[in-house]
Amino acid sequence: MIQPPKSRILGTGHFLPPNVRTNADLEKLVETSDQWIRERTGIGERRVAGDGMVTSDMAANAAKNALEAAGTSASELDMIIVGTVTPDMPMPATAVFVQQKIGAPHCPAFDISAACAGFVFGLSIADKFIASGTAKRILVIGVELLSRVVNWEDRTTCVLFGDGAGAVVLGPAEGDRGLLSTNTHTDGSLGESLMIQAGGSAMPITVEALANRKNKVAMRGQDIFKAAVKNLHSASQMAVDQAGMKNEDVDWVVPHQANLRIIDQVTARANYPKHKVLSNIERVGNTSSASIPILLDQNVRAGVIKPRDVVLMCALGAGVSWGAALVRM
Ligand code: ACO
Repeated sequence: MIQPPKSRILGTGHFLPPNVRTNADLEKLVETSDQWIRERTGIGERRVAGDGMVTSDMAANAAKNALEAAGTSASELDMIIVGTVTPDMPMPATAVFVQQKIGAPHCPAFDISAACAGFVFGLSIADKFIASGTAKRILVIGVELLSRVVNWEDRTTCVLFGDGAGAVVLGPAEGDRGLLSTNTHTDGSLGESLMIQAGGSAMPITVEALANRKNKVAMRGQDIFKAAVKNLHSASQMAVDQAGMKNEDVDWVVPHQANLRIIDQVTARANYPKHKVLSNIERVGNTSSASIPILLDQNVRAGVIKPRDVVLMCALGAGVSWGAALVRM
C-alpha cells in the first residue's frame, strides 16, 4: 500500500558567490576551449567564492533564504544536516558553524559525506527523523566550495566544478503534499574513481603529498559518467515506482548538474520530455551536493515549480553514492 508522505518542503533557498569564472578565463589557465567544455559538459561559466568566504558562510546564506521562504525562525530548528565534501575544516562539522551563523538553538548539527548525492542523502535522513516524530523542523543544506580543492592545472577536472549552496526546510507533511519516496545507494568498488586522496588517515598532508597535488580532486571521468547514466536511471525509476506513480505524473525533473550529456541520456531513457527537465549547468557548473537545491530554489522562486507539482530529484557522485527523491511540492 502506498504510504502518505511524512515530511514536506516548507521553503527553499540558495546562495551563489558573485565572482564568475567563464570558459574564456579557463582558456588562460589550461589548454582547453570554450567549445570543448560546452560540447562535452554544457558548462559555460561557474561561480568561485572570493578569498575570505568559507563553506559555512555560503551555507548560512542559503539557509537564511530557505528559513525566510518557509516562514520559520532559526530558533525553531530541531536539526541541521549539511551535505558537503568541502567542509570548513576536517573537524568539527561545517553544520556546527552554520548553527552559530544563523543563530539556531543547540539542536544536533552534523555533516554527511556523500559527495554530489549529499543533498539527496540528507533529505532521506531528515524525512525519517520527521516520520519518527523526533523532529518537526529540519534544515537540509547542500554546499560546496570546490574551487579550493580543484587542481587548477588539471584541465580534466577544473573546468567542471563551481561553488554554491542550496537549502530546504523540512516539516511534517500536510495531506498528500510532501516527500513521496526517497532511495539512496553506494557502490564502494568505484571509490577510487573520484577522490581527494590526502588529508585523512590514509595519507596525511605532507610536503610530498602537496607537491603531488594529492590534496586536490582527481577523477576517472568516464567511470563516473557510465555509473551516473546507469544508476541515476534506476534510482529515478525506483523513486517513481515506490510512490505508486508513473513517469508521466512527474511535472519536473531536477537532476544533479554534473554534465548535460549525463542528464540528456538519463532523462531520454525514461522518456521525460526535454521541457520537463530543468538545468542551470550552463551558468553554474557542477556544484556537487549544492546542485539540486540551487536548481530547485531558482525554479521555485521563478514560479516555474508551483505548489503541488511533482518533482523528481536524482544525483550521483564520488563513492560512488547515488539516490533519488520524489516530492509533491
Ligand atoms: N579541454 C580540452 N580537452 C580536454 C579537457 C578539457 N577541459 N579535458 C579532457 N580533455 C581531453 C582529454 O585529455 C582527451 O584527450 P586525448 O584524446 O588526447 O587523450 C580528450 O579530451 C577526451 O577525454 P575524455 O576523458 O575521453 O572526455 P569525455 O568525453 O569522457 O569527457 C568528462 C570528460 C567531461 C570529464 C566526462 O567524462 C564526464 O563528464 N564525466 C563525468 C564526470 C563528472 O561529472 N564528475 C563530476 C563529479 S561526479 C558527478 O557529479 C556525477
